[in-house]
Amino acid sequence: MRQSPLQTAGSEEIAARLKGRDFIGLVDYKPEEIRYLIDLAIELKRRHQAGEIYQPLKGKTLGMIFEKSSTRTRVSFEVGMYQLGGYALFLSRDDIQLGRGETIRDTAQTLSRFLDGIMIRTYGHRNVVELARAATVPVINGLSDLSHPCQALADYQTVLEKKGRLEGLKIAFVGDGNNVCHSLMMGAAKLGMHFVAAVPEGYDPDGEVVQLSREAAEQTGGSVAVVRDPAEAVTDADVIYTDVWASMGFEHEQKERERVFRKYQVNDKLAARAKPDYLFMHCLPAHRGEEVTDEIIDGPHSVVFDEAENRLHAQKAILVAIMA
Ligand code: CP
Ligand code: NVA
Repeated sequence: MRQSPLQTAGSEEIAARLKGRDFIGLVDYKPEEIRYLIDLAIELKRRHQAGEIYQPLKGKTLGMIFEKSSTRTRVSFEVGMYQLGGYALFLSRDDIQLGRGETIRDTAQTLSRFLDGIMIRTYGHRNVVELARAATVPVINGLSDLSHPCQALADYQTVLEKKGRLEGLKIAFVGDGNNVCHSLMMGAAKLGMHFVAAVPEGYDPDGEVVQLSREAAEQTGGSVAVVRDPAEAVTDADVIYTDVWASMGFEHEQKERERVFRKYQVNDKLAARAKPDYLFMHCLPAHRGEEVTDEIIDGPHSVVFDEAENRLHAQKAILVAIMA
């Protein structure tokens, strides 16, 4: 019988370390812990596809605070909790007292009396940090302006499934140096990959994230570069990744960004520079015709819906690891 990651050498010790932890950013996780979560995600996916019922979160509840829209994050966490035997509550910021000025601290302390875990999607990253500090249950970052670690975990699960390895692969991120870019960068560094972001001037990734990612990459044999030229980034890449030009909260800059990012579209001409078996990835939702053409996102290299599906499996791994 195939061993679950919970039973492989050294994994019991990692599993013990993860219990009760927050999942706020990949920066807080060691390379072997990230790899453990990816392996656990793959195992949980296998069990689910085999029709096995696995409910280690029976009787557990997850509150999900949403300050921004969501399709994938909401549905995958809700379905994930259900499949694991638990229950998830959707808490729109404006429907709870947080929207009327109750503090994050008081919200965190109150919710901790009812729930076994809290997921939050918010604008300011400090809200996630403040919530986690005041809560007595684990807190998961379901996207902030700074990072989107659940997405990166699902993305690297997807790359591993498709390529059979992570170490040494080159991933080119083309577009805005945003939350998704940050988490992919940190994840690549921790997993020994070569990450190159091509971003226009004025849209660079956060300097501290770049610095911390470079330090992580030094330990793993990976690398992190930020360039201006998308052609340079994409050359010989194993993965091309892009995201919307105007993230949630930046809609008012849409027109200006369309002008600035025009040369950063992932299209056939740009992608021709990548390895012949490259993967095209996007966290979704996509603005077709802007950051990516229909030909690319619907083409044979695209794995965008596998990525979306893996949000379910990767987040189930996080939930099991920190809440079971
Ligand atoms: N990729 C992602 O987080 O999608 P949603 O905004 O739909 O949750
Ligand atoms: N960068 C995008 C990702 C959406 C999943 C945003 O923050 O809107």
